[in-house]
Amino acid sequence: MASRNLGRHIFGQILLNNGRKNVFKFSGAHARCMSTQGEFIITEKKGEKQNVGFIQLNRRKALNALCDGLMKEVEAAIDTFEADDSIGCIVLTGGEKAFAAGADIKEMKDKEFAQVFKGNFLTYWNRLAGCKKPVIAAVNGFALGGGCEIAMMCDIIYAGENAQFGQPEITIGTIPGAGGTQRLCKAIGKSKAMEMVLTGNRINAQEAEKAGLVSKIFPVDQVVDEAIKTAEQIAGFSNVTTGMCKEAVNAAYEMSLAEGLHFEKRLFHATFATNDRKEGMTAFLEKRKPNFTDS
Ligand code: CAA
Repeated sequence: MASRNLGRHIFGQILLNNGRKNVFKFSGAHARCMSTQGEFIITEKKGEKQNVGFIQLNRRKALNALCDGLMKEVEAAIDTFEADDSIGCIVLTGGEKAFAAGADIKEMKDKEFAQVFKGNFLTYWNRLAGCKKPVIAAVNGFALGGGCEIAMMCDIIYAGENAQFGQPEITIGTIPGAGGTQRLCKAIGKSKAMEMVLTGNRINAQEAEKAGLVSKIFPVDQVVDEAIKTAEQIAGFSNVTTGMCKEAVNAAYEMSLAEGLHFEKRLFHATFATNDRKEGMTAFLEKRKPNFTDS
């Protein structure tokens, strides 16, 4: 039932965002295996407890180039999973050949400065980075340009052995416009980031792991399952506490050490106002599993 609502919700949102109709197919009658197919993405609830929101970019012929319609569907899916109390973590993935080959070059080619400036082109992509729930990117194949940038908007990146990360915008006369110059620098340091941005050269999964861009590498056919496993583990904790963890770690990107430590301390103190902090510590002392209620 919840998955059916998910489908309706996304449908409604895409109608609102695009002003045009997308066709959704509901596969399977049972909620456990029901997926919702948009024009450019597939969404599903995954995991034994159906507590993982799964988003698969599904524009295979164009290597998941991030056209406006696709990113609007991603935005709507994030809205839906974020509002769904049964979901504790989200997994974002693409296909085996490409996670995403960047912003849609065909769509961008004829745009003019005034248009992109006035329309704040690509700004709404930040919805992914602003998601309150943890998001894991499971990356196989190309994660280039905007593809690398949306992977970096996620909280954890798992890579398949064939993954390739790059910011090739320089080769088409532009620069990264969805966080590549900023997040890459913070993830792998200035020298490596500068080399990638100035040359357009890609790094492979092993180099990305060594540089700290990805946390783990898996065989191509296992990376999604491993991401879902980790997502289930995260979703098993209190959603309130995971949200606080995410805010605190992300604050390290934005704040000085002193400000960040103060912010962390305040959030730590705030956990003492939650039922789940009490339950977690009580369960530990009573030698039983905690029963978190996300409150
Ligand atoms: N936009 C639009 N279409 C794209 C695309 C993109 N970013 N990337 C690939 N495609 C399309 C190709 O045009 C091609 O379509 P057709 O079959 O209709 O010709 C199809 O996907 C398959 O691509 P290729 O034939 O090129 O496949 P390949 O295996 O030979 O090469 C690739 C793969 C190296 C990823 C190559 O497609 C490529 O270099 N893509 C562009 C990568 C890029 O420059 N990304 C940055 C975009 S700008 C950006 O993202 C800005 C930002 O900061 C947000």
